[in-house]
Amino acid sequence: MQELKIPTHVAIIMDGNGRWAKSKGMPRIMGHYKGAEVAEEITKASLDLGIKYLTLFAFSTENWNRPQDEVELLFDLMKNYLTEKKQQLLELGVRLRFIGRRDRISKDLRRLMENLERETSKDYKITVILAVDYGGRDDIIRAVNKIVRLEVKDIDEKTFSHFLDLGDIPDPDLLIRTAGEKRISNFLLWNLAYTELYFTDLCWPDFTKEELIKAIQDYSKRQRKFGRVLDE
Ligand code: FPP
Repeated sequence: MQELKIPTHVAIIMDGNGRWAKSKGMPRIMGHYKGAEVAEEITKASLDLGIKYLTLFAFSTENWNRPQDEVELLFDLMKNYLTEKKQQLLELGVRLRFIGRRDRISKDLRRLMENLERETSKDYKITVILAVDYGGRDDIIRAVNKIVRLEVKDIDEKTFSHFLDLGDIPDPDLLIRTAGEKRISNFLLWNLAYTELYFTDLCWPDFTKEELIKAIQDYSKRQRKFGRVLDE
């Protein structure tokens, strides 16, 4: 069997929670509950596999347009889950970081995020980046505004990246999207420029460690050229 090339950074669009719940005759929020458990399982699997960065798209700048009760329940779920799992994250060696806007989320959650970022920043084996109220275009616009405000001159790609939410974190090597949709949906627009894309029809609540390994096996076969011509 071909050797598994472990990507340094995996990004995931966790899609299909609603469809999964509907197919089981359950309310949509149950799909998000199961989705959070799967996010935890995939964090542990990524840690076992030696992945260094895992970025999960939890809530997009467009998700505010969902029914208000779903939005509220989703934020409650995130808040409760993160509060409950803090000790476990520390024991496992998971450093948490958040990307996205912070000005539209509740003060409680904002405080929790800051607290988790601070407390998990020592002795970690993996960095899990949760994208909450995140949009790729919004990320770029915020970066431009920071640059203008600071009057930084002679911006090149490297210095520009520094102002984006992922900052100096290396670009994702592999993007996985579940539930059959084949689009980027305003996720890390700048950082995905050379990322390998992997799509699966499975809904996120059905995604497993074995499926993650399957995606990495597929990724291992790809030849990454970054626009160059490789020697024959
Ligand atoms: C997309 O499925 C999923 C989301 C918008 C939310 C993802 C959030 C989680 C899995 C919870 C994360 C929580 C923690 C603590 C990490 P969808 O609702 O768009 O599904 P559909 O397309 O089938 O309707």
